[in-house]
Amino acid sequence: MLARWPDAVGVVLDSSPYAARRAARAHERAVAVVADSWARLPVLDGVVDRVLVVFAPRNGLEIARVLRPDGRLVVVTPAAEHLRELVGPLGLLRVDPDKAARLAASLEPHLQPVRARTHRWPLSLSRAAAATLIGMGPHARHTTPAAVDAGLAAMPERIEVTAAVDVAVYRRRPATAT
Ligand SMILES: C[S@@+](CC[C@H](N)C(=O)[O-])C[C@H]1O[C@@H](n2cnc3c(N)ncnc32)[C@H](O)[C@@H]1O
Repeated sequence: MLARWPDAVGVVLDSSPYAARRAARAHERAVAVVADSWARLPVLDGVVDRVLVVFAPRNGLEIARVLRPDGRLVVVTPAAEHLRELVGPLGLLRVDPDKAARLAASLEPHLQPVRARTHRWPLSLSRAAAATLIGMGPHARHTTPAAVDAGLAAMPERIEVTAAVDVAVYRRRPATAT
């Protein structure tokens, strides 16, 4: 996003100091803040053009507070078939079929949906890359590296995998007269 908007400045928010440190180095116009996105965001009211949340928690109330009136929230979540070639054979966590409805229910008191679409693309992974990908996701808490390695050993050295994400765009709800 920063490469696309030369005048923009990015603020990365993550509760992990390691992730924040890495993000701060990702672009010369990015700064990073260690903060909990369920608490008050360390940003003034109505100043942000775009909030981007990729595979991470989103606090609808706070996001609506910091967005400009014409700002947008872009949420990227795993689609049902994300990594399906790994999820089935390795017994990994499946995406909750109600995930899209839960996302909408949590955001819609504060934000209005604008559009949504699913993006899919192929990934050709080595076994090592597949193990890294599994390790960075929620699966890591529900399996062990040894179990993943044993499952991957039974798969081809190059594994063709589907990446699939839902991208949903929201705007602030118009202020209602009281
Ligand atoms: C799956 S990673 C996605 C990271 C990044 N968006 C990306 O696409 O590479 C989820 C991130 O959310 C962060 N996270 C989880 N809970 C959080 C919270 N309550 N507040 C802030 N960050 C949180 C984690 O530390 C982790 O870096």
